[in-house]
Amino acid sequence: MKAIAEAPSKAIITGEHFVVHGAWALAAALPRRVRVEVADSAHPGFTFDGAPISDKRRLSPMAKVVEAMAKEYSFGSSLNVSVTSEVPQGAGLGSSASTMVAVASAVARLRGISIGAHDIGRFSMLGEKEVHGRPSGVDVAVSSMGGVLLFRPGVRPRKVRLTGARSLIIAFSGRRRSTKRQINRVSGVKELFPSLFEGLTEAASDVSLMAAERLSAGDLKGLGKIMSFNHAVLATIGVSNPGLDRLVDLTLSLGAYGAKLTGAGGGGSIVAVAPGGKEKSIVSGLRERGFEAFLAVIPVGGVRSWLEK
Ligand code: MEV
Repeated sequence: MKAIAEAPSKAIITGEHFVVHGAWALAAALPRRVRVEVADSAHPGFTFDGAPISDKRRLSPMAKVVEAMAKEYSFGSSLNVSVTSEVPQGAGLGSSASTMVAVASAVARLRGISIGAHDIGRFSMLGEKEVHGRPSGVDVAVSSMGGVLLFRPGVRPRKVRLTGARSLIIAFSGRRRSTKRQINRVSGVKELFPSLFEGLTEAASDVSLMAAERLSAGDLKGLGKIMSFNHAVLATIGVSNPGLDRLVDLTLSLGAYGAKLTGAGGGGSIVAVAPGGKEKSIVSGLRERGFEAFLAVIPVGGVRSWLEK
């Protein structure tokens, strides 16, 4: 018997970085997923795309999640955990959070433990903290709950209702980067200009609340303006780079309403919204110029798990 879990990736629509310091962020689950299969085994271990994971930095966060669950629910952790992923790593789309969420969920399913989004999040965060140092928890919340969320640390996430399906354009700059380093860079800005940073954090919260309203009402033009504004602020605090700025400008020149970096920045991906008739041609235009780009139709569900023989 094995248990399988599939967890969605995510895009932060507004509020990244400031969410670590207490602001609201708006984020959506994306239809690219991480799949984890877990089974009891006499030869326990972790594999990625069929190859054993030997790098301790990659192994240890997942092992931490499994060990914490084994301790709390008193079961043996002699498990084989196999991970496959449609989510590029280091691309700002939350691949590590999706992996932790899928691991926690598959292990719970295998052991017959009924576990909700809150506890999946609690265990997943043990692994996420190893990877990112001081994550806000937004990636884990979106991957476990799915949909579109307004998230703020320490507060129950708010689901944002959409009046219909919407599309987000996602494009990868091709440059991978470390979220941990980016979070530390922003903390440096906060130390240097504490009162200015406090003002920006409050403004980022307002930006996310406004963006949620626009998205909910289907006003993608208004949402796009807010997203472009948010990109400018993120660039000001030093988390964009020339490659990301060029990718944002290119997406706008192809006809998007608005575009911004998504996630930690410094590389990674951008997210954009566009008029209904233009989304596909923008994605094609980005691909023609060599970028990995796709259209993500939202909302999508959160993690799901099941048993198989
Ligand atoms: C990473 O997806 C988003 C950041 O805000 C970090 C976090 O919230 O954990 C940069």
